[in-house]
Amino acid sequence: MSQPLDFIHEFVPGKSARTLLLLHGTGGTEQDLLSFGHAMDPQAALLSPRGKVLENGMPRFFRRLAEGVFDEEDLIRRTHELADFIAQAATQYGFDATKLIALGYSNGANIAASLLLLRPAALAGAALLRPMVPLVPKTLPDLKGKPILVAAGNHDPIVPPANTQNLVRLLERAGAHVTLHAEETGHNLTEQTIDSTQRWFASL
Ligand code: MLT
Repeated sequence: MSQPLDFIHEFVPGKSARTLLLLHGTGGTEQDLLSFGHAMDPQAALLSPRGKVLENGMPRFFRRLAEGVFDEEDLIRRTHELADFIAQAATQYGFDATKLIALGYSNGANIAASLLLLRPAALAGAALLRPMVPLVPKTLPDLKGKPILVAAGNHDPIVPPANTQNLVRLLERAGAHVTLHAEETGHNLTEQTIDSTQRWFASL
């Protein structure tokens, strides 16, 4: 018998080999990004876990000490826990773990970036919506050729443009193929973000 998977989650089978790993923002649930993910890639399967950390009742993927100040020890532990969940879910649902693309918003984008930096084999690529540098790894991972979208808001009060630039540089130094979409907005997602994310998925 297979072990029960240890994240509350949704899995929606797809019609192509690709699976999207949907990672919600603070206060979200596994339901939040299902229709968004389906709209971004209607053929893909969807794996959508709920973050296990509660901050005043709001689910997150890792603890923070203040806004934009992360509990790095917890982040590292939660990143490995999520990577292990992905591998177990791939076995249980029978999807190809080498074709998994993350689609994360805010806190979800940050854990996706952390997966890329600490467990690069867990993801084939990622769409990071309003991400920041989650941590700087001791050794640079090998992200050679992995497609990564960084969708930033130039007036994001949580993520200063310099932080976005640092993330892009870090991912590029690791060999990733980064597409930066910066727009004149804040932390919220706009029609423009959705259009550019959809175009990015169509280009994969
Ligand atoms: C959030 O509110 O989720 C933050 O902006 C990002 C984070 O804490 O990871």
